[in-house]
Amino acid sequence: MSREDLSFDDHDEVINPGPETTGFDEIVERALSRRGFLGGVMSFGLGSFLIGTTSMSRAALAGDRFGFAQVAANSADTITLPEGFDWAPLVLWGDPLWSDVHAFDDASRGTAASQARAFGDNNDGMSFFTRGGRSVMAVNNEYTNRRILWGNRPGAEPAGAEDVEKGMMAHGVSIFEVARDAGGAWQVVKDSAFNRRITPRTEMQLTGPAAGHALMKTQADPTGTRALGTWNNCGNGETPWGTYLTCEENFNGYFSAEDETHEVSAELKRYGVSARDWGYGWASVDGRFDVSKHPNEPNRAGYVVEIDPFDPTSMPKKRTALGRFKHENAAVVIAPDGRAVVYLGDDERGEFLYRFVSRGVYSATGDNGDLLDSGTLYVARFRDDLTGEWLALTPETTGMSEAEICIHTRQAASKVGATTMDRPEWVAVNPGKVEAYVALTNNKHRGTKPNRGGDATPAGGPNPRVENHYGQIARWIPDDEDHAAPGFEWNLFALAGNPAVHDDAYGGSDNINAGNMFNAPDGMAFDQTGLLWIQTDGKYSNQGDFAGMGNNQMLCGDTATGEIRRFMVGPRECEVTGLCWSADRRTMFVGIQHPGEKGDSHFPQGGDSLPRSGVFAIRRRDGGVIG
Ligand code: FEO
Ligand code: CA
Ligand code: CA
Repeated sequence: MSREDLSFDDHDEVINPGPETTGFDEIVERALSRRGFLGGVMSFGLGSFLIGTTSMSRAALAGDRFGFAQVAANSADTITLPEGFDWAPLVLWGDPLWSDVHAFDDASRGTAASQARAFGDNNDGMSFFTRGGRSVMAVNNEYTNRRILWGNRPGAEPAGAEDVEKGMMAHGVSIFEVARDAGGAWQVVKDSAFNRRITPRTEMQLTGPAAGHALMKTQADPTGTRALGTWNNCGNGETPWGTYLTCEENFNGYFSAEDETHEVSAELKRYGVSARDWGYGWASVDGRFDVSKHPNEPNRAGYVVEIDPFDPTSMPKKRTALGRFKHENAAVVIAPDGRAVVYLGDDERGEFLYRFVSRGVYSATGDNGDLLDSGTLYVARFRDDLTGEWLALTPETTGMSEAEICIHTRQAASKVGATTMDRPEWVAVNPGKVEAYVALTNNKHRGTKPNRGGDATPAGGPNPRVENHYGQIARWIPDDEDHAAPGFEWNLFALAGNPAVHDDAYGGSDNINAGNMFNAPDGMAFDQTGLLWIQTDGKYSNQGDFAGMGNNQMLCGDTATGEIRRFMVGPRECEVTGLCWSADRRTMFVGIQHPGEKGDSHFPQGGDSLPRSGVFAIRRRDGGVIG
C-alpha cells in the first residue's frame, strides 16, 4: 500500500508502532461470551439476524417520522437522494472567497497565494450562523490528498516550497457569508467583510491552564501564549453564545525532523509525533515543524479552538482547558445549573471519551468569553452493568498539575482507569431529551492490541466486538437529567454490521438490515425534531464484509424506535462529513470529503474533471423543512 493510501491511524502505527498484544486469554474468554453479553447492552435487542425488510416497507408509508423513502446503497459517482430532494454545490475546494483570486483550474490546481484566499480542501465539520439578517458559514478544511493536490507533479509529490505552501494553505478553516440568489440557490458572497481564511499560519492565543506553562514555550514564543495556526481541523461545535469551535485532530503527522532517526520524547510518542511526517513536508518550509529543533511546538496543537465567526479581526483562542488529544468534535450543552458541558472524543484506537464542565455559568445576556477557560475535565468509565461514571482529571487523581493535565491529557486519562474506546468520533446531544450519543467508528485492534499508552482493550461494555470492523453508536443517559452529573446509564443504539454475511454479532443489531446497512459511523448531528443524522467514513469496496453497503452515506435514525433509514449515498471514494442547516431549516448543508481519494471519481463536475471536496446544499423540491 502506498503512503498516501494509509489512514492517519495506520500511518502512525507504521512509523511509530505502539505496544504489542497482551492478555490474550482474557480477550478470548470475553470474545466467546460476547453473544450473551450483547443481549443485555442492546437497547433494541439482537433478537434477529434475519435479513430485514421492515425499513423498506415502512418507508413507503406517507407521513411517517422520516418524511422520505430510503435510498438503496450504490457505487455511483454522484449524490443519490430520495425522490423529492435535490442537491447543488455551494462551494468546492479552491473556489475563491474574494474576487481578486482567479477561479480554480484543474491543470494548475491553484497556487499557495490563491489557496490562501480560496476555500480549503477536504472540508469536514461546519456551522451556519445568522446575525442581523446575515448568514455566515464556518467550515473546517481538515487535510488534503497528495494524489489530488499534487497529481499534476511527478509522483504526486510537491515540486518545491511553493507546492508545500499550497498544501499548507489548503488546511484550516474557511469562513464566508452565504446568501440565496434570485433563483433561490445558495451562493458564497465573495468579498463579504465576514470572509476569512484561517490557516496554519494564523496567530492564535493560548488560553486556559496550559497557557504560559514551560512546556508551551518556544524560541519564537517565549511567553507560551501565542501559537501560529490550526490544522487537521476535523469535527466542530458551536456555543450558545454564537462562537465556532474547531477541533484539531491528527495534528501530529505534520511534524518531522531533518534527522529521521531522531527519537522524540515518550510524551510526544503517546500522541504519535515522530521524526517522519505524513508526507506534507511542512518542516521544509517552516522550521517550527522540525520536532528535533522545537520539541515543544507539538504541545501547542491538539486543542479545541474558539472563533468568533462574525469578527474576522478577532484572534482565535486555543482552549487548553478542553484537553489535548486527537479531537473529533465538541458537543456543547448547558447543564440545569447553567454550567457549560462539552463532550469530546479522542479519535484513535483505544483512546477515550471526555467531558468538560465549566466552573462558571452561561449567561444569555452577559459575556461568556472565558467560560471554556476554567473547569474540570473528566473521562468516561463504562461498566458492564450498563452504568458508568465520569472520572475527574485533577491534580489529586492524576498527580499532575492542572497545566500538565491539559497538555498530556491522554496520560492523565490512562492514570485514572478510563475505558478504552473504539475510536470516538462525533458526539451528538439530543435536543429533546437528556441523553448523548457517540459514534465509535471501528477498531481493528479491539481485543488484540493495547492502545498507544499500553492500556488493555478487552472486548466488552460499549466496545463489545473483537477486531471491530464495523463500528457502533453508544448513548448515555446522565443521572438526574443533568449532563454535569457524575454518573450515567448507557446502552448501544446501533451495532453496525453485515447481516447478509455474518450471523453472529458482526451481523449487527436488529435495527441493521440488508436495506440500511453501513460501516464506520463518524459524523453525527441531531436536527431540531430529534432525528439523529449519521454520516459514514468507512470501507466502500462493496465486497466481502462490506458487500451491499456501497459508497459512504448519510442515514437518519429515530432514537425512540431505533429505526435507521438511508437518506443519501455519496460519490465514489468519498467520506460524508459535516452537517448543518440554514436558519429556516429548509436547506441542509452536507460535506463531501475526498471523492476519488484513490483515483476513481470525477465528482462533482464529471467528464475528466478533477474530483473536489465541497459543501452541498440539499433542499426539498416542495421547499419544505428538512430536519
Ligand atoms: Fe477527522 Fe476522526 O475524523
Ligand atoms: Ca471524522
Ligand atoms: Ca473517520
